[in-house]
Amino acid sequence: MALTIPVKTPDGSYPIYFEPGALRRLPDLLQEHRLTARTVIGTNTTLSPLYARPLADRLPNSVVLTIEDGEIYKTLPTLEAIYSGLVRLGLDRKGIVLALGGGVIGDIMGYAAASYMRGVRLVQVPTSLLAMVDSSVGGKTAVDLPEGKNLVGAFKQPEMVVVDTDVLTTLPEVEWRCGLAEVVKHGLLADPGLLDPALLVRERAAEFVPRAVSVKVAVVEQDPYEQNVRAFLNLGHTFGHALEQISGYTWKHGQAVAVGLVAAIRLSARLGQCDPALIAQVEELLGHLELPTRLGRYDPESLWEAMATDKKWEHGRARFVLLKEIGKPFIMENIDPGVVISVLTEMSGA
Ligand SMILES: NC(=O)c1ccc[n+]([C@@H]2O[C@H](COP(=O)([O-])OP(=O)(O)OC[C@H]3O[C@@H](n4cnc5c(N)ncnc54)[C@H](O)[C@@H]3O)[C@@H](O)[C@H]2O)c1
Ligand SMILES: [Zn+2]
Repeated sequence: MALTIPVKTPDGSYPIYFEPGALRRLPDLLQEHRLTARTVIGTNTTLSPLYARPLADRLPNSVVLTIEDGEIYKTLPTLEAIYSGLVRLGLDRKGIVLALGGGVIGDIMGYAAASYMRGVRLVQVPTSLLAMVDSSVGGKTAVDLPEGKNLVGAFKQPEMVVVDTDVLTTLPEVEWRCGLAEVVKHGLLADPGLLDPALLVRERAAEFVPRAVSVKVAVVEQDPYEQNVRAFLNLGHTFGHALEQISGYTWKHGQAVAVGLVAAIRLSARLGQCDPALIAQVEELLGHLELPTRLGRYDPESLWEAMATDKKWEHGRARFVLLKEIGKPFIMENIDPGVVISVLTEMSGA
């Protein structure tokens, strides 16, 4: 069953099109939206044989541009190679970059589309669960610098986003679970119906993915340039980023976010802001989804240190997204470090 969610942007709007099997229909869909110019399908070495080459075979005037697979390639040197590829493959200012892949591809191909020849049109075809529910919507694109993640980028709204949940059948299990952590985040922010373990299974992706996307759409429409409520999407992420960092990135983002969500809820409860019963509910759900809820071998003090150097904390003031209840996020500043460390201490161990 096909479904379209329109997204309002500062300059207009674009559709997110959902349909199991949409990739097969993509040539028709692009034509319906008059996206028929020269198209470079930007992808990686894993997804090229699976989806990009078969698509190029059926899409007139298209060609595949492949980069290596992995966050370590979301860099300026890769970007430069992409620009050269776009020139070599004959993409002019009227051309289209079609980003086919997970969040890494969406971010780097999106930034290439934002900057190549001062900007060409972009179509996002997210293939990981995380990219479907999170990174392909909202217009943020970026590459990493040696100094840190996502330090160079731009807002670039796509012409359309096409979500084919059938491609999730080839997504590795660990990536699937990491995407679910973001779905749980969206559930906590705005849609308690998403917090149902019976729903969050691959067979029902076509059902829950559009719901999870709707949460992000509502937030980015209200705050396209991340000035206020978009910060709510950082629920669990201050803890999560710190955990990713001190693990030397051996923890995956979604795993760290899962622990971060638990920390945010425990902190909310400790500060008397939310019902402590929510802690068990969320820990049980994450456990069921085989996501972690404890700090493992990392200690609370190191985690606090890593958070305190987070650049998003203006003047070094501790700032967290917390919950009053499901669907009611809020931001709290100047939280006593002792309280945060004590909450993290409860979460020590496996
Ligand atoms: N722009 C934003 O708003 C935003 C938001 C969140 C995250 N991000 C970025 O997204 C990136 C993470 O995205 P990700 O988790 O998708 O990682 P990823 O792009 O590295 O994909 C994860 C792995 O899954 C593989 N894969 C993806 N789809 C597949 C499929 N259908 N079948 C088989 N394999 C598949 C990829 O090749 C990769 O090896 C990070 O760089 C992060 O900074 C951006
Ligand atoms: Zn995230």
